[in-house]
Amino acid sequence: MDKIGAGIPGLDELLGGGIPKRHNVLVCGGPGTGKTTFCMQFLYGGAKAGEKGIFISLEEEPESIVNNIRATYQWPGFDEQMRNKDLVVTGVEKFNFEHFMDVIQDLVSDQGYSRVVIDSSTLLKIYFDNPLEFRKNVFNLAGFLKKFDCTSIFTAEFPHMERKGTSFDLEHFVSDGIIFLYNLEKGNLRVRACEIVKMRACEHASKVVPLKMTKQGMVVFPTEQVFSESSMH
Ligand SMILES: Nc1ncnc2c1ncn2[C@@H]1O[C@H](COP(=O)(O)OP(=O)(O)OP(=O)(O)O)[C@@H](O)[C@H]1O
Ligand SMILES: [Mg+2]
Repeated sequence: MDKIGAGIPGLDELLGGGIPKRHNVLVCGGPGTGKTTFCMQFLYGGAKAGEKGIFISLEEEPESIVNNIRATYQWPGFDEQMRNKDLVVTGVEKFNFEHFMDVIQDLVSDQGYSRVVIDSSTLLKIYFDNPLEFRKNVFNLAGFLKKFDCTSIFTAEFPHMERKGTSFDLEHFVSDGIIFLYNLEKGNLRVRACEIVKMRACEHASKVVPLKMTKQGMVVFPTEQVFSESSMH
C-alpha cells in the first residue's frame, strides 16, 4: 500500500512509514492540543512534495489561520505555496451541506488537490438534524474523497485534554485512522503527547509518545517516554 509523509517529524516512524494514501484520518484532541497545526503541517509537507492541499475551515476565519501560522512557525516556502495555490485555506460560506460538497468536488475533481483537511468535523454536525444523517453524510464524504485519490484529515474536538472518559462518537468508526493529541497533566507538569489509536493497514506503534511545539512546528519523539519512571510516583 502506498504511504505518504505526514509532514510531522517523527510521526511517520510511529506510523510504520506514513499515512496510507486515500485514508481518512481523524485527528482528535482538546483545546490547544495542536489539531490545526497538525493539519496545516500535513498540507505544507504535501505541497513541498508536489501534492496540492486544501484546508477547509469550519471554525476559524481562513485569514486568521494563515496569520497565526505565519506568526508562530518558520516554514520556508509557505508563502510561496499560498501564492501558487499549492496550499489553499478556505472557509465555507453557506451552512448548507450540498454547497459544502460542491466546493470540495470542484477542488478535488477539477483542480487536482490530493490532500484535504476539514477543521473541524465536529462542526459538520450542525448541517444535520440527527446523528444518522450526520454519519451517513460523513461516510459519503470520506468515500467521495477516497474515490478522487485524496488523503484526508478531519479534526474532532474533545472537551478534555485526556482520552480517559471520552466516549467515541459515530465518526470515529467511519475513519481509517485515529490520532489523538494530548496535553497531559502530572502534578504541575504539562506534557504534550500523541497516540495512534488506530490506523488501518499499518503496523503502527501502540503507545503514547511526547511531542513538542517548536518554531518549525510539531515534532514527535517516537522513542521517548512521556513521563520518566521517577515522575510517575
Ligand atoms: N514554539 C512553541 N512553543 C510553545 N507553544 C507553542 C509553540 N508553537 C505553538 N504553540 C502552541 O501550540 C498550540 C497549538 O495550537 P493549534 O491552534 O494548532 O491547536 P488546536 O488544537 O487547533 O487549538 P483549538 O482548540 O484552538 O482549535 C497553541 O496553543 C500555541 O500557542
Ligand atoms: Mg484549531
